[in-house]
Amino acid sequence: MYMINFYANGRYHQLPLINGTFDKAIDISKLREYTKLITFDPGLKNTGITKSSISFIDGEKGELLYRGYPIEQIINKCSFIETSYLILNGELPNYKQLKYFIEKINSFNLIKDNICNYLDKIPNSYHPMGILSSITNILLSFDNSIKSEDSYFYLLSKLPILAAMIYRKKYGLPNINNEKNICYIYNILSMFFSIPNKPYKKNYYIINALEKLLILHIDHEQNCSTTIVRLLSSVRSNIFSSVSAGINALWGKLHGGANQKVIEMLELILKDGGNINKWIEKAKNRNDSFRLMGFGHRIYKNFDPRAIIAKSIAENLIKKLNISDPILDIAKKLEINALKDSYFLEKKLYPNIDFYSGIIYQAIGIPKDMFTVMFALGRLPGWIAHWIEIKDNLEPIGRPRQIYIGNKKRNI
Ligand code: SDX
Repeated sequence: MYMINFYANGRYHQLPLINGTFDKAIDISKLREYTKLITFDPGLKNTGITKSSISFIDGEKGELLYRGYPIEQIINKCSFIETSYLILNGELPNYKQLKYFIEKINSFNLIKDNICNYLDKIPNSYHPMGILSSITNILLSFDNSIKSEDSYFYLLSKLPILAAMIYRKKYGLPNINNEKNICYIYNILSMFFSIPNKPYKKNYYIINALEKLLILHIDHEQNCSTTIVRLLSSVRSNIFSSVSAGINALWGKLHGGANQKVIEMLELILKDGGNINKWIEKAKNRNDSFRLMGFGHRIYKNFDPRAIIAKSIAENLIKKLNISDPILDIAKKLEINALKDSYFLEKKLYPNIDFYSGIIYQAIGIPKDMFTVMFALGRLPGWIAHWIEIKDNLEPIGRPRQIYIGNKKRNI
């Protein structure tokens, strides 16, 4: 066991080094006991809060592994459902395991009237992410016959249906039932876009693009929303309220909400005459609150491999659908100009997954305020896997300390 020596409060101390598969960490679990000191790390930029075997990011190399498999291999060889099985169970499924997994998910795909009635009472003006998190939080109250071992399948089945219901209600479409015997991704598109007497016309390019895009979102180590789900699991909150909290964290515009902000930013630049360099200068100006949405990442100090794949999906889909998209042109120009600028290169700010994902959603016909809901549908298997990992490992309650800077003790 390697140790790290350091001097504090008048004496030398030793703390163990622990080894992960690829990286090492200083185990500070005894630090306060030995030294009365704690660490200070705003934003947890240097702090590992747990051990996990679900996904791994090498930020310097721009690599992402799902249970050890590079995302570039997963995206070309696996479906969203197969990848969800991998993330949840640690191995890719054989034919029998996959068949059972799909049947279990399909067995929960009816929506009871009480959920429809609840959804009807929520004002249409509310953001779809707020509606999704509130219904997810109380899902069990609509159907308390769900056994805990079935809750994962129940969520994987229900969330896409709820997303489609929220979209259809918000955009004035009648509700439709979903179909059991079509693939998961085609079913999502059919639930969103079918209208009575005009079923959704199967388009292989759109199904393929959405399948790959949702695979890119399935898991990403300790991102903010996943860490929130883990924290709720550590206090033994149920999976529904934990996922609901993850949805709320993902909604933040610096996190999953960025995909909607990227398109709004690109539309603003287009409306402003496409003056790319003006907006790049604004993003560099510390006195200007404008940031290039979809750029930068806490971990990737190289290209986000998902952004590279999302860019090729966007270009390919736009070409196959034979649509011209000025927003994609603006995005590509912005990327080229920003990555020629020393500000972005020195700060290692590259496009992240959110930079191109909105272009794909828009080409599919999904409106901007539903983009982060789609991110949540992709991230759901990862959230469930992390919730299970904390529960199964009986990890202690997540409860960080602080440096107090308030008033000294005083009398009223
Ligand atoms: C996601 O964690 C995950 O894995 C998240 C995610 C996932 O799959 O779950 O990958 C999904 O959330 C992707 C990120 C989407 N958000 C955005 O695109 C919003 C724009 N990006 C920034 O807000 C920022 O880059 C973050 C939030 C993504 C990362 O923030 P950090 O790591 O805390 O970095 P920082 O804010 O401290 O920035 C470091 C420097 C600062 O300049 P200085 O103060 O050092 O002079 O870089 C600058 C920042 O001002 N900077 C930017 C910038 N991002 C950082 N300047 C202009 N435009 C930007 N986008």
